[in-house]
Order: sequence, then C-alpha cells, then structure tokens
Amino acid sequence: MDRDWEILEKSLTGKIFGHKLQYYPETGSTNDEAFKLGIAGAPEGTVIIADSQTEGRGRLHRAWHSPAGSNIYTTVILRPQLEPSRVPQISIFAGIAVAEVLEKYCPNRINVKWPNDILINGKKVCGILSQAKADVNKVDFIILGIGINVNINQFPGEISNIATSLAIETGREIPRQQLIISLYENLAKWYKQLLQEGFGRIKEKWLSLSLMIGQKVQVMFKDEIISGAAVDLDDDGSLILLAEDGKRIKASAGDATIMR
Ligand code: BTN
Repeated sequence: MDRDWEILEKSLTGKIFGHKLQYYPETGSTNDEAFKLGIAGAPEGTVIIADSQTEGRGRLHRAWHSPAGSNIYTTVILRPQLEPSRVPQISIFAGIAVAEVLEKYCPNRINVKWPNDILINGKKVCGILSQAKADVNKVDFIILGIGINVNINQFPGEISNIATSLAIETGREIPRQQLIISLYENLAKWYKQLLQEGFGRIKEKWLSLSLMIGQKVQVMFKDEIISGAAVDLDDDGSLILLAEDGKRIKASAGDATIMR
C-alpha cells in the first residue's frame, strides 16, 4: 500500500476530499487521528487512510476488525454549514455514496441497513462511524469514518456469520486505491447534493436500498426494545416505526432486526 498511497495522493490532488491526505501503515483509529486534526484546525476534505488499525472502533463501542493488507479504513473531516439537528444526515448520505460505489462491483446486490450499514446478501461489507464536534447552534467539524471489507477472506469467530467482503462476494481481489478514489469522488457528489439540494433525494435513494421498509422490525438500544413496521426515515436520521396500536415511534439509536 505504501507505493499505492503515492498514486492515491496524486489522484486526489485538488479534489474536495483528499486534497490533504495522511496515510499510516498502522494507527490506533483513523477517527481518533482525524478528531485530533479537526481540533487543530485541519481544513474540510482532510483525509486519513490507514492500512491497519489497532483500535478500530464501531458503533455502540464495538471493535472494528482492522487487519493489515486487505481493507479500507478511512476518515474525512467535514466542516459543513449545517444545523446540528441535521448531523445524522451525514452518515446517511455517506452510506448512499458508498453503496453506489459498491454497486459497480456487485450490481443489484447492495442494501442499506438502518442506521448506516451497507450489506451484500444480508452480510455487512461496510460500516460508518461519524462523530461531530458541535454546540447547540453550530457544527465545528464532523469526522466521517468508513470501514470497507475489501479483500479479507476470513473473519474471526463471532463476526464470520454477519460480515462479508467484496472479494468473498465477487471471487476476485479488488485494488484498494481505485476504490478509494471512486469512494471520495462519489462522497463529494452526494455531499454537494446534501448541502445544495437538501436531504430529499438522499432519503429517497436510502429508502429504495433499504430492506426494512414495510417489514416488521425490532430496534434494541441498551435495555430498551421497540418494535413495529418500519415506515420511513426521518430527517433527523431516525427510523420511524408504526406500532401495533397505530402510534408512530422514532428510533434514534440501536440495532434493528427484521422479524420473520
Ligand atoms: C460500525 O458499523 O459499527 C461502524 C464501523 C466504522 C469503522 C471505521 S474504519 C475507519 C474508521 N476508524 C474507526 O476506528 N472506525 C471507522
């Protein structure tokens, strides 16, 4: 990857995302690196890429499996002029952008799962973890972390049933640098869409790729379980459920499962 990274740097010169690029053969977490850079005033579009992470993090304090030589672990710093209540739209637009790129490798097989997983054949191929530094009135910056399982062929124990990779699904090795270039180009396209046109088209696309809409789902968060038919995605990124008593309930965090 070290030589590939030089090619990458050239390809992203002058682009919205990646005009500033930091590559690490190994780091704790690209999100932690990006957060430090954000605090230090790094500009929008600064991208961190690592070949491996020793403390890769997922949602709900889970670990993100991050071995060397096979996958993509990357974080970009955003400084959008966005009301803080719209921050969850960032992970949603990113999910759509990633899904569209992965579609090229696995046509018609990509789905999204609330809140922001990308699935192939019901197994997770990509996870997104964003974190904002904001006060009630203003967003200072957002770090948008993306992990894509690209060429990994085997996952450790408990995640082997729920995770997959592009290599497993396509039967071939995928060059990571080309994928990163497409990823950041497409993220820039959908970011522009979000900031200039709003959330509408992003939400529409998300709903069309989601397998949950119309299904009975259960959302678990800490000790709480809510269930109902998934009917919509709210503008604040929550999943809207229609409970059996006809009430609309908003799920804003947790894990969602389709009930069969
Ligand atoms: C999830 O689905 O739980 C989110 C996983 C996010 C993983 C990525 S890999 C790059 C960035 N650095 C991290 O430590 N996490 C994110």
